[in-house]
Amino acid sequence: MGFSPISSLSFFLFLFHFHSTISSSHFCAHDQSLSLLQFKESFSIRSSASDRCQHPKTESWKEGTDCCSWDGVTCDMKTGHVTGLDLACSMLYGTLHPNSTLFSLHHLQQLDLSDNDFNSSHISSRFGQFSNLTLLNLNYSIFAGQVPSEITHLSKLVSLDLSQNDDLSLEPISFDKLVRNLTNLRELDLSDVNMPLLVPSSLMNLSSSLSSLKLNYCGLQGKLLSSMGKFKHLQYLDLGGNNLTGSIPYDFEQLTELVSLDLSINFYLSLEPIFFDKIVQNLTRLRDLILGYVNMSLVAPSSLTNLSSSLSSLSLWGCGLQGKFPGYIFLLPNLESLDLSYNDGLTGLFPSTNLSNVLSRLDLSNTRISVYLENDLISNLKSLEYMSLRNCNIIMSDIALLSNLTQLINLDLSSNNFSGQIPSSFGNLTQLTYLDLASNNFSGQIPDSLGSLVNLSYLVLSNNQLVGRIHSQLNTLSNLQYLYLSNNLFNGTIPSFLFALPSLQYLDLHNNNLIGNISELQHDSLEYLDLSNNHLHGPIPSSIFKQENLRVLILASNSKLTGEISSSICKLRYLRVMDLSNSSFSGSMPLCLGNFSNMLSVLHLGMNNLQGTIPSTFSKDNSLEYLNLNGNELEGKISPSIINCTMLEVLDLGNNKIEDAFPYFLETLPKLQILVLKSNKLQGFVKGPTAHNSFSKLQILDISDNGFSGSLPIGYFNSLEAMMASDQNMIYMKATNYSSYVYSIEMTWKGVEIEFPKIQSTIRILDLSKNNFTGEIPKVIGKLKALQQLNLSHNSLTGHIQSSLGNLTNLESLDLSSNLLTGRIPTQLGGLTFLAILNLSHNQLEGRIPSGEQFNTFNPSSFEGNLGLCGFQVLKECYGDEAPSLLPSSFDEGDGSTLFEDGFRWKAVTMGYGCGFVFGVATGYIVFRTKKPSWFFRMVEDIWNLKIKKKKKKNVSRYGARRN
Ligand SMILES: *[C@@H]1O[C@H](CO)[C@@H](O)[C@H](O)[C@H]1NC(C)=O
Ligand SMILES: *[C@@H]1O[C@H](CO)[C@@H](O)[C@H](O)[C@H]1NC(C)=O
Ligand SMILES: *[C@@H]1O[C@H](CO)[C@@H](O)[C@H](O)[C@H]1NC(C)=O
Ligand SMILES: *[C@@H]1O[C@H](CO)[C@@H](O)[C@H](O)[C@H]1NC(C)=O
Repeated sequence: MGFSPISSLSFFLFLFHFHSTISSSHFCAHDQSLSLLQFKESFSIRSSASDRCQHPKTESWKEGTDCCSWDGVTCDMKTGHVTGLDLACSMLYGTLHPNSTLFSLHHLQQLDLSDNDFNSSHISSRFGQFSNLTLLNLNYSIFAGQVPSEITHLSKLVSLDLSQNDDLSLEPISFDKLVRNLTNLRELDLSDVNMPLLVPSSLMNLSSSLSSLKLNYCGLQGKLLSSMGKFKHLQYLDLGGNNLTGSIPYDFEQLTELVSLDLSINFYLSLEPIFFDKIVQNLTRLRDLILGYVNMSLVAPSSLTNLSSSLSSLSLWGCGLQGKFPGYIFLLPNLESLDLSYNDGLTGLFPSTNLSNVLSRLDLSNTRISVYLENDLISNLKSLEYMSLRNCNIIMSDIALLSNLTQLINLDLSSNNFSGQIPSSFGNLTQLTYLDLASNNFSGQIPDSLGSLVNLSYLVLSNNQLVGRIHSQLNTLSNLQYLYLSNNLFNGTIPSFLFALPSLQYLDLHNNNLIGNISELQHDSLEYLDLSNNHLHGPIPSSIFKQENLRVLILASNSKLTGEISSSICKLRYLRVMDLSNSSFSGSMPLCLGNFSNMLSVLHLGMNNLQGTIPSTFSKDNSLEYLNLNGNELEGKISPSIINCTMLEVLDLGNNKIEDAFPYFLETLPKLQILVLKSNKLQGFVKGPTAHNSFSKLQILDISDNGFSGSLPIGYFNSLEAMMASDQNMIYMKATNYSSYVYSIEMTWKGVEIEFPKIQSTIRILDLSKNNFTGEIPKVIGKLKALQQLNLSHNSLTGHIQSSLGNLTNLESLDLSSNLLTGRIPTQLGGLTFLAILNLSHNQLEGRIPSGEQFNTFNPSSFEGNLGLCGFQVLKECYGDEAPSLLPSSFDEGDGSTLFEDGFRWKAVTMGYGCGFVFGVATGYIVFRTKKPSWFFRMVEDIWNLKIKKKKKKNVSRYGARRN
């Protein structure tokens, strides 16, 4: 076939055209150039927008030059059409609108916008118009919203990556279309795209030529099918962080090309020993095997011996492995990373010689594998960059040996029994960015040499016995972001350099002996500040109100913190926890506290000297779960706007001067579990309920020491459902939005005001004492079977003691004292075997005191002031009809001497009382505060949770959540 004249002509014309574009040195079609420039103009350049790498490519784009020569731009040299745009890491910040000129580049075949910040832009449906696109990469660029179904039109796509964005979701139906239409796909990464209800069978329509499939954290639910074997070309398979169930199918053995397999964090997924063996034998190319939290409890650790020698990374954390771990694994020649953490049944010995000399990451935390820290080992671990031996079985001659591992970037030795000084030779580990020595017995001062660790961003020395001042040798640590020194014996003032550290985000100094003022912060980087339980004084420095990103502010229990709480505190719009309790703050409570942050979950201002009224502006959609204003001098009424706090679980307004009627409107708070209104000036009748399900979740109701009158609130007794059913779940009540914060409240326990620093979720208390309630104790009270404490004392109750109280078999404390009760004590009360505290004194009871194991242990003070009572408990014999019951068997033993003569026996009885009390305390609901209270579990976990919620999720380990 020769050239026809016409085609020769057009060829000639083409050459001519080609020549003319060259002469003006422009390949690029004018409209394309214009589109690109307009695209460039619609974004700003910000260094925070890209953090993996930074190449501001659009900066080289200049009008009047050939766009085909611009950074990141590829053209078709014949047509001058832009066919490729690679703007990865270009620091672009701004919204990508549907009218963007990007969409005029119709001829695009490759588009990479990864690692920029598109400010939660939606992915426009116009992406579907790039009909020739073979590569689309929007990874890690802060796109949000629904992925448009038009994406399924891109049928030529070979590679699609929408992973790691802010908040993307994709309808399962779109996913189905996508996998049917995109038949050329080789690489698919939709990690973090939320696909609710997606089932694994949807994956089966994916092209069998797929080489990489990553669906991490997508919401995949259900059983993995045993036809995964069809993806014979798969090299990368990542289905971590979903809810896959059942066992890993055995045809995984057919995936012989696999280089990397990640099925971690599928809590209901398990691996059968026989399948594991097959998989291990067939997957000879495997380099990365990541099965963290997959249940492998039946797999014998010895079967790991067959793992491919090409393995470079093995992560089996939290797999439930039991037994002796084969030391051989550590010797795999290419092993770079080994993580066996959180297998507390794993034993064995970590070998000290012949180790892989490329091992750079080792995590044996929370295992029982023995590690002999000795010279041999250390010299074999010289390439280690990451080492975690948290809560491990470490046997060693000298911890200072570790300072020879000079490549270490990350060292975690927390929760061991190290004692003595922190070795000053640790100052040699100058690469360290992360050092955690928490929860040991280190004593003495922080060695000055730690000041050489200038790369440190994370330093944790909490829970030790460190003393002395926090000295300024650390002021060289200008990269510190996290500093935890809590639960030590540090004294002196807080050195001002701490507040001048430019990147400090988390500062936790709680529970030390620090004194002095809190100085002004020089920067505004703080997200977390806890200075509680020290002896600080003075006002809150105003610079705290400038910490825009502050999420947690805890200054509690510094009794000399004074001054007013400025309304500037309401500038902290992202605050989740504000705890300024147990201090000496005065003035009125800023009214803006009711509506300054929709994220606030904990507001604790209890135990101060605050005056004025309770904010009346609680806004709709607030997240408040815990509101404690106990122990102030607040006046006025309880604002009905509190009903906007629909998440509220704890409301404690006790010990104030509130003058109001019973706040019926609180009935409708659907999650309210604890309501304390004690010691105010509330009055009137308590009749209710006025709504359905009133107070049905309430576990503690304390309205004692007010002026309530009329009969006991019988209607409520019928609706307090939580008090009718015991909860076996022994967990501490804590904020769901910020689970580090464990609730505390003030309660009366045996007549003594006590702070409960933690509250077991099993607790059930009803306290109506010290009011003017009249009438009888109603029978329905017997329905509240889960009650542990019932206090109706100091009222004017009449009639008999209800025998239905005998149904309250969980009762540990019963106080009916100082009423006008008459008649006998019902024998049914003798069956209350947990009863440790009983007070029936100062009534008009009569007759024989019942016996019963627990009843026999009460001493006379429980019954005093009832002249008609008789029985051995009150050292008074009963006569006639009221003849004393037989002495209980436990006392009717040995020499037969009577109680009344035997001082020793009396001692036993009072001890019984004492033990009962201690029993109640120990098994129950209070944990008294000791020198090291832990009313917050300040676990790294939760800190990570906080981080993860942050916008640009950069530098966050998603596996942080398993640390604790
Ligand atoms: C594109 O749309 C956005 C929002 O709808 C608007 O603010 C912007 O001015 C538009 N840009 C152009 C070039 O039309
Ligand atoms: C898409 O590719 C086909 C075949 O290469 C070509 O004919 C067509 O012009 C291209 N479409 C666009 C919009 O570039
Ligand atoms: C499949 O892709 C073609 C374009 O190649 C498009 O016309 C069709 O609508 C797509 N089908 C679905 C279900 O999206
Ligand atoms: C995960 O699946 C299990 C078993 O089907 C189910 O019980 C559980 O609720 C699921 N978890 C989530 C978070 O969906």
